[in-house]
Amino acid sequence: MAVNPDLRARERRLAADLDLARTGPGTLAGRFLRQFWLPVFRAEDLPKGHAKPIRIMSEDYTLYRGESGAAQIIDQRCPHRGALMHLGWVEGDDIRCVYHGWKFDRTGQCLEQPAEEPGFARKIRTGVYPTREHLGLVYAYFGAGEPPPFPPYPAPLGDGLIENPAPPVIACNYLQCFENSLDEVHVSFVHRTGGSHQGMYDLPAIGAEETEWGVLRTGERQGEKRLSLHYMPSCTRVVVPPMKGFDGVGGWKELYLNFVPIDDESCQWFIIYHVRVTGRDAEIYLAKREDYAKKLAAAGPAPDLAREVIAGRLPFAAIDHPDLVRVQDVAVQAGQGAIADRAAEHLGRSDRAIILWRRILAREMIALAEGRPPKAWTPAPASVVPTLGF
Ligand code: FES
Ligand SMILES: [Fe+2]
Repeated sequence: MAVNPDLRARERRLAADLDLARTGPGTLAGRFLRQFWLPVFRAEDLPKGHAKPIRIMSEDYTLYRGESGAAQIIDQRCPHRGALMHLGWVEGDDIRCVYHGWKFDRTGQCLEQPAEEPGFARKIRTGVYPTREHLGLVYAYFGAGEPPPFPPYPAPLGDGLIENPAPPVIACNYLQCFENSLDEVHVSFVHRTGGSHQGMYDLPAIGAEETEWGVLRTGERQGEKRLSLHYMPSCTRVVVPPMKGFDGVGGWKELYLNFVPIDDESCQWFIIYHVRVTGRDAEIYLAKREDYAKKLAAAGPAPDLAREVIAGRLPFAAIDHPDLVRVQDVAVQAGQGAIADRAAEHLGRSDRAIILWRRILAREMIALAEGRPPKAWTPAPASVVPTLGF
């Protein structure tokens, strides 16, 4: 695509003032993210007939699953007098407010108001947001108009297990977590203690190119290229090493890591693993996973330990945690501050993928600000997959 040099120069000037990180309602970065399907909940945590509160990009909603099995997102509060809708009852695929019994269907239409005149209900609607499921996660679309094609990215190729670990809440802005996933060099340092990433400690030469669906990143070591995929707007798909405690069972696996803002100073990681095990190997893997889950529960949440590391009370080398990798990642990312100060950075060639991502974000945000059409991103082909590289 030919780039108009005037446009590029103007974008560079404007980009310096753009706030890439804040995504609340009305912000440019928020308008950008709201153009895409975003994961908002782990599907297995939402049984039929239950309603939950969720907070995404500094806005609150109610998520419920009807008796037909369909998940639905509606406004947080009842349009009558503002009661929290998740306190109410799911009835079939409808939801009834706990306060005075107003009932709404999946389109947001009010169906019943037990204490009101007939005819009032049809004049009342609540907000509803398109809601779908893919690879064990519930996704929602919070933008205007028709949502983009679903699913937002392809399922992994081949047989195996799909796993969705409990989504951790991380005490910092989503973008620094996402940028860490663009930063392959960090592996050589952050994950050196504990030796989790054997084979990846040689420094890679980083390459990054924009695609129709996001960014394809390469990390080259001794002529071997590792491919990592970054789907718009905040999902990274990589191949990662077996976790400690699995004794190598399941091997290196594919990881989809979705970084979703709760608000500007916290985010949630929605994780999908594809483990290439079937039959007897799958049974062995699942037994290891059960054992691992017990150790994980006994060791406590990784973000809690990361807080101790940030405070200087605990060095990485003193930590015995089954998911030391998570402790390490969270400590460096949350340690950058609730919202990292990008103006104080000095980026180099190894930050090439981060620089490209920010340039794309800035370009798209400026297009939104100036009323120009944003790039028409297309779903990634299933054939483009991440690789290990060695
Ligand atoms: S506040 Fe919901 S029915 Fe009154
Ligand atoms: Fe990491």
